[in-house]
Amino acid sequence: RTTLPYIPKVIARAGQLRANVPLAFTFPDAASPCVVVKIGASVPGGVGPEGDIVAFSTLCTHMGCPVAYDLATREFKCPCHFSAFDAEKAGQMISGQATEKLPAIVLDYNASDGTVRAIAVDGLIYGRQANLL
Ligand code: FES
Repeated sequence: RTTLPYIPKVIARAGQLRANVPLAFTFPDAASPCVVVKIGASVPGGVGPEGDIVAFSTLCTHMGCPVAYDLATREFKCPCHFSAFDAEKAGQMISGQATEKLPAIVLDYNASDGTVRAIAVDGLIYGRQANLL
């Protein structure tokens, strides 16, 4: 996690997210694709009423291919060289060519209006020297 001056962005309302259905967004800018997913059970880094909403960059840390969320395993899988990252463990590497975890988007949750905001990135987005360009 860094102290870069990220501009918080509302990415969803907790009540709109269905368990295991990822929703795409970009953060911290339009060139950085991400997804938010409600895992269905409390997980590390999870926010929301159930502590189960997490978000990640979808650029594989190996060579930047787009990873896809696998509903059955709750992993992000890369089609290029088969790296896999654990959505239930903060994007930790499971297997494959990548050597870094998937960058997690740090979220906060406002219980009064149900909004979920992206506020920072934990990990370096693929291809960048700093997460803010
Ligand atoms: Fe994802 Fe190589 S780009 S494993």
